[in-house]
Amino acid sequence: MLPTIKTQTLSYFYMKNILLIGATGQIGSELTLELRKRYGNDHVVVTSRNPAKLDGALAAGPTEKLEICEGERINEVVKKYKIDTIYNLAALLSAVAESKPQLAWEIGANGVFNVLEVAREHNCAVFFPSSIGAFGPSTPHKNTPQDTIQRPNTMYGVTKVSAELLSDYYYKRFGVDTRGVRYPGIISNMTLPGGGTTDYAVEIYYAAVKEGKFVAPLGKGTFLDMMYMPDAIDAAIDIMEADPSKLKHRNCFNISAMSFDPEMIYAAIKKHKPDFRMMYEVDPMKQAIADSWPDNMDDSAAREEWGWNPVWNLEKMTEDMLKVISERHKKGEL
Ligand SMILES: NC(=O)c1ccc[n+]([C@@H]2O[C@H](COP(=O)([O-])OP(=O)(O)OC[C@H]3O[C@@H](n4cnc5c(N)ncnc54)[C@H](O)[C@@H]3O)[C@@H](O)[C@H]2O)c1
Repeated sequence: MLPTIKTQTLSYFYMKNILLIGATGQIGSELTLELRKRYGNDHVVVTSRNPAKLDGALAAGPTEKLEICEGERINEVVKKYKIDTIYNLAALLSAVAESKPQLAWEIGANGVFNVLEVAREHNCAVFFPSSIGAFGPSTPHKNTPQDTIQRPNTMYGVTKVSAELLSDYYYKRFGVDTRGVRYPGIISNMTLPGGGTTDYAVEIYYAAVKEGKFVAPLGKGTFLDMMYMPDAIDAAIDIMEADPSKLKHRNCFNISAMSFDPEMIYAAIKKHKPDFRMMYEVDPMKQAIADSWPDNMDDSAAREEWGWNPVWNLEKMTEDMLKVISERHKKGEL
């Protein structure tokens, strides 16, 4: 049984009991901290396949062992904590999913189905992050519309489109309060990314601080949407707090904060580190995936329907990333 929330610190938000699946990943580890700050440690249940390994802030509230492929287990945890909101972040990211397509489907499609079924039974709201990977080669690549052709040719994309459709179906058919965004590449400095096509835009900052040089796996002119983690966290919370009467799309809102190619991020870093050097060694699989994705998405539906308005651009993010990673490096954390 969860304790009563302290209203003097948290009165601004509706009292939620939140379950996080995929809490230890790049996004989940930071989302957990912010959700616990806003709603109280005891109202945010962190799950992991190996909870004994959780420490620090992730262990500062309830934790449970959970595997997304086991629907009955999700049911048990939701009942135990009277969960009303589920953040489902479990997935194999794009490059990893190509090496394990069957498992990627189990987690990214069947796992989503398990979560939606439990949400239907217990009347939970569900946040699900889709991706720029939900688009494919036949999608218009410039200013990609909110509603457009989606014929991805990666297993990651196939699971994301399936999950978007399932989420829409559960809302329309059963009234489950499903909501979500299509994240671009997320850049952060706390937890390393889990094997996606945009990981290079994180790795380049670590390389700039630690080695002074970087080998880019994507070619010059490969433009992709990106976002700094604080904006990604705000998006996940803001969409779940949004007035439902204003949402026409509900699931899979395009959101972006910036679009750049390797040359642009290199130039932004060089302003702070003039001796930094970047070479190219294109990874054919990652390049093919990147080429099938949008250069930049139109996120006007998110701006109109729930006030999406990112704060961080490439210059501000670069300054902050280099500052934080340099501090961590000096402390011997990296
Ligand atoms: N990071 C990005 O750039 C990005 C961009 C677009 C969309 N997304 C989406 O956001 C979500 C989170 O991404 P991330 O970058 O934090 O991923 P990540 O790879 O860093 O973390 C994934 C999490 O899922 C968990 N997980 C994996 N298999 C599981 C299973 N069978 N059962 C339970 N948990 C399992 C992992 O332990 C981990 O905590 C994913 O759905 C991803 O597709 C991420």
